[in-house]
Amino acid sequence: MDSKGRVVIKLGGSLITDKSKSKTINMSAIDKVCKVILKIQNEGYNLVIVHGAGSYGHILAKEMNIADGIDRNNEHAQRNAVKKIRKDMLELNSHVIESLENLNLRVAVHPPSKWAKGIGMNFKGDITIFEKESNRVIPVCFGDVVDREDEFEFGILSGDDLMYRLSVEIPDVKYTIFLLGDVGGVMDQPPTNPDAKILEIWSKNKFVKTKHNSDIDVTGGIDLKLDRAARISKHVSEVWFLDGRNPNRIIELINDGDTIGTKIIA
Ligand code: IPE
Repeated sequence: MDSKGRVVIKLGGSLITDKSKSKTINMSAIDKVCKVILKIQNEGYNLVIVHGAGSYGHILAKEMNIADGIDRNNEHAQRNAVKKIRKDMLELNSHVIESLENLNLRVAVHPPSKWAKGIGMNFKGDITIFEKESNRVIPVCFGDVVDREDEFEFGILSGDDLMYRLSVEIPDVKYTIFLLGDVGGVMDQPPTNPDAKILEIWSKNKFVKTKHNSDIDVTGGIDLKLDRAARISKHVSEVWFLDGRNPNRIIELINDGDTIGTKIIA
C-alpha cells in the first residue's frame, strides 16, 4: 500500500511514567498507545515515535544539575549520573519497544546520545537516518543526555526539540501529535482547577504563557512544548496536543478531521 504520509507522535514522559516517583513505568498507558500506533499504520501511514523521560530522566537530572552542563566541583558524580540516566532511558525505551514488538510492529531505535550533539532546536545530527527506514519499520527516539561540543560537555536534549526537527525535516509529515499524560489538551486555567477547560485552538499570538506548571521538569515543560509545536505548525498543518490516556482520539482526528484536544496554530 502507498503511504498516506507520516504521523510523528510524542509519548510524553508524564504519560508513560509516574513523574513523581523514580523509575515507575505506566505499562498500561504504553500498551494502549501502541495499539493505536498499530491502527495508524494499518490506516496506511508511516510513523515516527519520540518519547519523553518522565521519572527515568528528570529526577536524577535535576538532582545532579545535568541540564546546566558540567560543574567542575561535582564532575565525578555528574559523569556517573550521565551514565545512569542514559542507561535508565534505554531501560524505559525497552519497555516501549517491547510493547510495539508484542503487536508485531517492527522498530529501529536511534538513541540520541549516539547520533546527536548539542541541545535545543539546533542540535547537530543526521536526521535522514529516520527517513531511511524501510517501509513499515518505525523509527523511535527519546529525550536523552547528549554530548555538547562546547565547554558545557553535556546537556539534555528534549524530546520536544527532536519532535521539531523530525516533523520539519522529514518529508511528508501530515500529523504531529503530542500525547499528554494528565490533561486533555492545552487548558485555559491551571489543570488542577476543576473549571479548567480544554482550548480547542491554541495560537502563539493569543496566549503568551500557559498556566500549566511543573517543578519536576528539567527541560521546560509545557511552554517548551508549545513553542516547538507552534514552530512545527508553520510546516505541518495538523499539530495537536491530545490526551494520551485516550489515544483513540488520534484515529478520530485522522478519520474525521477533528477530535477532543487542542489544535496548535502558529
Ligand atoms: C527529557 O526529555 C530527557 C531527560 C531528562 C533525560 P523530555 O523533555 O522529552 O521528557 P518529558 O516528556 O518531559 O518527560
